[in-house]
Amino acid sequence: MENFTYWVPTKVYFGKDTHKQVGTVIKEYGFSKIMIHYGGGSVQKTGLLDQVTQSLRDSGIEYVLFGGVRPNPVLSLAKEGMDLCRREKVEFILAVGGGSVIDSAKCIADGVLNPDMDPWKFFTKEAVPEKALPHGNILTLAASGSETSQSCVITNEDGGWKKGFNSPTHRPLFAICNPELTFTVNRFQTGCGTVDIMMHTLERYLGGKGKNTPLTDRIGEGLLKTVMEAGAVADKKPEDYEARASLMWAGSLSHNDLTGLGRAYVMQVHQLEHELSGMFPSVAHGAGLSALFCTWARYVYRWDVPRFAQLAVRVFHVDMDFENPEATALEGIRRLEAFFESLSMPVRLSQLDAGIKKEDGAVLAEKCSQGGTRVLEGIYPLGKKEMEQIYLLAY
Ligand code: NZQ
Ligand code: ZN
Repeated sequence: MENFTYWVPTKVYFGKDTHKQVGTVIKEYGFSKIMIHYGGGSVQKTGLLDQVTQSLRDSGIEYVLFGGVRPNPVLSLAKEGMDLCRREKVEFILAVGGGSVIDSAKCIADGVLNPDMDPWKFFTKEAVPEKALPHGNILTLAASGSETSQSCVITNEDGGWKKGFNSPTHRPLFAICNPELTFTVNRFQTGCGTVDIMMHTLERYLGGKGKNTPLTDRIGEGLLKTVMEAGAVADKKPEDYEARASLMWAGSLSHNDLTGLGRAYVMQVHQLEHELSGMFPSVAHGAGLSALFCTWARYVYRWDVPRFAQLAVRVFHVDMDFENPEATALEGIRRLEAFFESLSMPVRLSQLDAGIKKEDGAVLAEKCSQGGTRVLEGIYPLGKKEMEQIYLLAY
């Protein structure tokens, strides 16, 4: 087991009606003026925004509204948010939405207190935010795990670069997670969320080094089985509370580091996908992952057959073939792919309705490898050539 530090300071309020406490929760922290950040309209349509503002008014908290975050959130909007927060002397940012809204809020929070820095430099790792405005969220979509994670992922429209970075400043003060708020998430986004939650654990489970992590392995396996069961139910019955609840809690646990403790991992498929949805913003993150993951798995599994076989046996109920463990590993990947297909998720890049051409693989690999200078470490390191092969094989 590798050494680790586990620090997940976000307070989680989980369950029915929890969002109605938001005014009281924020008041307890002592904030009197906040910004409410949201997306393209779902929070108005569902009436959630009205409930949130009512709760704030009841607690005597002043607020400014700032909506318009689109999926795969952009830097230009976050910069507008930074200006607004400074102008209005906002003390706290409340994100109400999915991962895109929460990430946009994190980006704004970093920028507000570092006015002399170009916020993009945090993403290119040329600068580090030492401080940020405090933030919290009301989650409306189980997927990214951003509600408790230390990551923030933003697209710079200037060049179509999508980049993420980790920082303690990204840990929200609180996450309010009411599964009922996800009843209105459509079938496609529910599928994307199910895939993304699985990926956050699968990338840690398969894509890293570090032996002797039996507890971490079994937590990950339990999470994956739970998400597959709940995802299948939510796919058919969007208002099944227990399924939505399992997805929501799994989403937070899957990306708050728990399922990778003791392992050294690089999320190679996430890196490949971020390039994809950076260059093609209509690609939903979960759909991009779904289109790439099984090709990646078939490309690298031979460098850690025992681990892929373990996953196949323990999560996908494949019988272990001791004569031919490779066959076991491959059958596990096949069953994972079949699960994605059962949710109508794409398993090839050509199935993404985004105008991607086969030749784009070379451009994507050029960008992902930063002109051939970056290698993604993992069970098998991916340089530019390997990245391009995966994009082409996944087409
Ligand atoms: O914008 P609105 O109108 O709210 O609609 C959204 C959006 O169109 C809709 N939606 C959200 N909640 C809803 C709802 N529709 C009906 N009812 C509700 N209750 O769903 C659409 C997608 O929302 P989005 O926030 O983009 O989805 P998701 O939560 O999957 O977030 C994706 C973003 O998170 C990043 C991704 O790269 C992508 O940019 N990630 C962030 C991570 C992190 N910070 O830790 C880790 C992830 O790996 C991921 O990279
Ligand atoms: Zn993800």
